[in-house]
Amino acid sequence: MSGFASGWDQATDRDKLPAEIPSPDQVEVPAALRQEIEGHMSLYPDPTSAALPALAAAQRVHGWCSPEAIEQVACVMQVTPASLAAVATFYDMLETEPVGRHSVYVCTNISCSLRGADALLDAVKAAAEGDGELNVRAFECLGACDIAPMASVDGVYVGPLAIEDVPQLLDDVRSGRPVLPEKQLARMLVADPAANSQQYPSHPVQSVDNEGQRR
Ligand code: FES
Repeated sequence: MSGFASGWDQATDRDKLPAEIPSPDQVEVPAALRQEIEGHMSLYPDPTSAALPALAAAQRVHGWCSPEAIEQVACVMQVTPASLAAVATFYDMLETEPVGRHSVYVCTNISCSLRGADALLDAVKAAAEGDGELNVRAFECLGACDIAPMASVDGVYVGPLAIEDVPQLLDDVRSGRPVLPEKQLARMLVADPAANSQQYPSHPVQSVDNEGQRR
């Protein structure tokens, strides 16, 4: 029957591996990447559960989950590349095509959308047009609705964002500066001063020493 891959009507051989597991003799893996993946594997009773952090580590090295990156992860984890490709193609933050190395995810879900996220995304896209270093895309709720409209810039949450913030935001990304520091969620103070990190500006009323004591 045309239009179907051959064998489509035959029972699956469940004992057969879908592909070979790469041999450590044949695949060169950067030492730091190998070490990081092995570190993740050591945290799980079943080491293959480390697929997500291992792929994320490879993506940081290669810029995306390229076939080479997947093969390196498969080699360290001793699983088939196909099993990792299945994970990489499912999860939104794992890239299976080359992209710019800086991610700018503009949330366009309901809270952000109601506060102008669509216009914000258009503005970011227009300002980033032609810049191959930037991976600008819409994203579903990033879980920071209280700072809507917001974006995740290389993993740093910033908001509430206005259209006027866009030039500064992209300028900060391109020059390697902290992005819009005054709008970073991690730097915002919360009601409980004990929850504020010493890395960030101390609470104006009360701060916490390194032992967690309020002073
Ligand atoms: S809707 Fe944008 S962070 Fe939740």
